[in-house]
Amino acid sequence: MNFYVKIGDFELRSPLLLASGTWGLGEKEISGLEYISALITKGVSKDPMPGNPPPRLAEAPCGLINSIGLENPGVETFLKEYLPRIKKLGPKVIVNLHGESIEDFCYLAERFENADVSGIELNISCPNVRKGGIHFSESAKDVFELVNEVRKRFSKLLIVKLSPRSNVFDIAFACEEAGADALTVANTYPALAVVSLKPFKVLLGGLSGPAIKPLTLRLVYELSQKVKLPIIASGGVMTGRDVVEYLACGATAVQVGTALLIDPLGIKKIYKEFEELYQELEWGS
Ligand SMILES: Cc1cc2nc3c(=O)[nH]c(=O)nc-3n(C[C@H](O)[C@H](O)[C@H](O)COP(=O)(O)O)c2cc1C
Repeated sequence: MNFYVKIGDFELRSPLLLASGTWGLGEKEISGLEYISALITKGVSKDPMPGNPPPRLAEAPCGLINSIGLENPGVETFLKEYLPRIKKLGPKVIVNLHGESIEDFCYLAERFENADVSGIELNISCPNVRKGGIHFSESAKDVFELVNEVRKRFSKLLIVKLSPRSNVFDIAFACEEAGADALTVANTYPALAVVSLKPFKVLLGGLSGPAIKPLTLRLVYELSQKVKLPIIASGGVMTGRDVVEYLACGATAVQVGTALLIDPLGIKKIYKEFEELYQELEWGS
């Protein structure tokens, strides 16, 4: 199949990337990696983060609610112990970054500038401690400043992952103006699961999976008509048909996330279905 696109200097021979947080940090083998263009790591922060106490996951109709709390070993241990193992898996690596201030993100960008990674993906669905805990993704001005500062320090692929709860249009324009290379649209949607009624206990987390696909598909469709930046879609990709729908709605590539948690052997299936439909539609010719 002659699928080929470029985002900056980053070449993709498959539209599939593995989404952050859904395949671990290279602890176990993953089947079907020959069908993807890159692995996007779980969020990496400056210091180690223990994550949230259980329960961290709850099933929802056609979806999953997670509240992992960005558990990760911190950048130094990641670079020393985890990255070499992830590199051995084969595909190119994009590191998802979690910071709570512009300084955090700049520090991380500098640490990865000379590391063996193809790019970074900024997760901006997190509080900006400098601004008193408001979320970066709630202010286009903060996002501009953030991406602008990171861009000065990082010369490779720079992706910004938008939160669907934000004003995505203003945030997307800010990313474009500040020099990002691409947008990931989008992260999970705020959701709640009642874990037990007596005692009453809830899980506040992010909804992913097929339930969010129509919502994210609309964001991708509308955004792609307004911004020039390539869009990497992330939200409920389960089948080859989903991939084709996202591409038809303006995405350049897609991420596979929750599908992997449901079927760890699913990458090959999604790719083969995509390939068949792509050829049937004569898109590559
Ligand atoms: C268990 C779990 C952990 C996640 N961890 C992260 C993370 O560390 N950073 C991030 O930007 N997104 C994270 N995400 C969001 C996914 O990367 C993806 O954007 C989202 O789940 C929507 O795609 P999906 O419906 O295909 O899963 C996580 C999602 C899940 C289900």
